[in-house]
Amino acid sequence: MTANNGPSNNDFAQAVHLLEQGNVVAFPTETVYGLGARIDRPEGLKKIFSTKERPFFDPLIVHVSSIDQAKTCFKEWHAMADHLAKAFWPGPLTLVMPKSDLISDMITSGLDSVGVRMPKHPLAKKLIEAVGVPVAAPSANKFGKTSPTKAEHVKKEFGDQVVVLDQGQSEIGIESTVLMVKVSFRGPQHNTYELAILRKGAVLKSDLLTSLLKTDLKFSWLEAVDKKESPGHMKHHYMPEVPFVICKNPAMKLSEITGIINTKLKELPDEVEHVKIVKPKHEIKNIVFLTLSKDPGQAARELYSQLRAMSERKPDVLCFIQMPYHNSEMWESVFDRMYKAASLIIE
Ligand code: TXA
Ligand code: MG
Repeated sequence: MTANNGPSNNDFAQAVHLLEQGNVVAFPTETVYGLGARIDRPEGLKKIFSTKERPFFDPLIVHVSSIDQAKTCFKEWHAMADHLAKAFWPGPLTLVMPKSDLISDMITSGLDSVGVRMPKHPLAKKLIEAVGVPVAAPSANKFGKTSPTKAEHVKKEFGDQVVVLDQGQSEIGIESTVLMVKVSFRGPQHNTYELAILRKGAVLKSDLLTSLLKTDLKFSWLEAVDKKESPGHMKHHYMPEVPFVICKNPAMKLSEITGIINTKLKELPDEVEHVKIVKPKHEIKNIVFLTLSKDPGQAARELYSQLRAMSERKPDVLCFIQMPYHNSEMWESVFDRMYKAASLIIE
């Protein structure tokens, strides 16, 4: 986080009041800025969807300030949930499990499960505590667009329409890991669980394994999840304002890249799964290259900010060259975002 004293007491009190009144407020978390509404204010929840222009099939993540509050959101709190929450909360891990009656269909898009996480950011925690009920919050950006990691990103996206609590740069920079937890067998003493990572993030599969192998919890990994159980995973997402291209061949010459882009980008569809594909309007001449830190944690922190800042320079195309060293688990989480943000991937 950058040096930033955060919002004044007045701004904070106004945010709590707005949420109380059934409005939305944007607030920082350690992953990205969220656009929040109280889970007990249907008007507020509706405003999340209308403000973001988000389709109703995409469920919202519920944010809590304590494990006791998380328990009220789920139908059951078992040993696996208890272990994962104690090991990874507060932090960038969202648990998806069967919901309680407190959670409405608008939050879950009609699913029987809900995603819940306890953010680590002190201001997010303070806000949820002050509100006294869980706060549903997707990332504070227009649907399909680049997520915000600074308050100014949210202001650019929504202008005066949304009040933003500003506390500098998000520390992690990409959204939480979403983990689905199912009870696959109920034993007299111990359950057996199935786990599936629905969205990669800063909590890695190896982190989960290391933690779980220290326990006597029995589990297996589910590699494939029914699409209905994991909505909101469109082929495209996080798209910047100018066409973004990833080139997976570092040896390719600039003239070759330009040629391929000029042929291929014209052929792209206008829209895929409700997300508008960003395409060049004319023959491209001017390519700007996106560079990210070699450290994947730092790259995650920079990614959305860089996509926004470099798009503002209005190049015809923004291009990223994938290198052989981009091959750790954390890079996979970063590339999950980059592939979706890309209009075109050159093999
Ligand atoms: O880091 C984060 O998680 C950020 C900050 C603000 O906390 N929030 C966030 O929310 O990324 P959002 O709305 O952009 O991500 C919601 C995604 C859905 O698209 C879906 O992939 C998954 O979380 N999700 C939520 N509820 C689910 C459920 N019941 N079943 C399956 N997936 C769910
Ligand atoms: Mg989002």
